[in-house]
Order: sequence, then C-alpha cells, then structure tokens
Amino acid sequence: MSADTTLNVLGFAGSLRKASYNKAALRAAQELVPPGMTIEAFDLAPIPLYNDDVRVQGFPPPVADFRARIKAADALLIVTPEYNHSIPGVLKNAIDWASRPPDQPFNGKPIALMGASPGALGSVRAQMHLRQAFVFLNGLIVNQPEVLIANAPSRFDADLRLTDEPAREFIRKLLQALADWTRRLSR
Ligand code: FNR
Repeated sequence: MSADTTLNVLGFAGSLRKASYNKAALRAAQELVPPGMTIEAFDLAPIPLYNDDVRVQGFPPPVADFRARIKAADALLIVTPEYNHSIPGVLKNAIDWASRPPDQPFNGKPIALMGASPGALGSVRAQMHLRQAFVFLNGLIVNQPEVLIANAPSRFDADLRLTDEPAREFIRKLLQALADWTRRLSR
C-alpha cells in the first residue's frame, strides 16, 4: 500500500438510537478524516441476536454483509457507548457474529476505538474491554490517542454536531494515527 492509496475505513457505533452520541461522534469522524481516508458507516440494527444453531446453517444476510465489509475494509473505526462498565450488547453481539469461522475478518485488521458517554469517563471501561476481546481476535488496535468524549451532552449541539474543539482535535489525531498504523502494518 503506497502513501497515496486511499484508505477505506468501515465505521460502526454500538448504539441503535437515533439521537445516539456515539453515532453522532462517528458522523463527526467522517468529517474529520485526514486526506486519503474515507469512512463508510455501517448500521448494526439489522444484525440478529447471536444463535449458534442459526450460524451452523449459514450466516444470516446482514451478518454476511457485515463480515464482507469488515474483510474489504483497510481498517475499522469502532465507536462504543459504555453499558454497565462494559461493551453494550448490541456491539458485542455484532462482534461475536462477525468473529465466527471461517476466516474471521478481524484477524490482523487495524482498528481505532473511540466512545462517548454523558458520564465523566467517556466510555473508557467499555474501550478497555474491547481491547481485551480483540486480543483473542488478533485485531490490531491503535494505542494512542484515546478518544474519550466525556460529559457528552455538553460537547454536541442540539443537532448532535460535535462542537467541542478539543474532542474534534482528538478525533483528527486518532484518525491520523489509524492511517499511519494501517500503512505501517501493510509494509
Ligand atoms: C448506561 N450508561 C452508562 N454510561 C457510562 O458512562 N457508564 C456506564 O456504565 C453506563 N451504563 C449504562 C447501562 C445501560 C443499560 C444504559 C442504557 C446506559 C449511559 C450511557 O452512556 C448513555 O445512555 C449514552 O447516551 C449511550 O450512548 P448513545 O446511545 O448516546 O450512543
């Protein structure tokens, strides 16, 4: 991959609600990409609940689509809320589906994490649990910077546009780090 190849990133947020801060943070990231990067957003809503009886008969179409998009992407951007100090079920369920053999698509994939919460810690505990899960899946997560959008209601306007300049700058830096990491891993 040369320095001028466009990086196609697949982004998904672990919340289904319309007014989600995490979906809004993903939209902000789509605006804040460095030159040579695009982020396609994938909605997790069509992913059914994991059932191994279903899986052995074949991946349901939304799961097959999700897996194919992960596989095709140069890198992933996962935007996570925090539920009960951990990963929301919606997101964990989607990762569990995508992770099943054959050829689990997270293997060797460059991944950046970020998250937003109305609380003071900005989803850090959910992000740490994601890092732990991706050790098993050999997903290669960018270490720095951490993007923890704490006190989320004060950082977005009434139209859910991320207006907080420090948060925007952290996202810019994370996306640049993801671009550098992806190019470095491809050498
Ligand atoms: C939460 N919330 C929450 N926030 C947090 O910072 N730490 C937590 O452990 C939890 N736990 C939790 C559990 C459950 C079941 C819900 C529904 C919510 C609050 C959560 O951060 C808040 O609802 C966010 O707005 C969710 O993200 P979206 O939907 O705005 O993207």
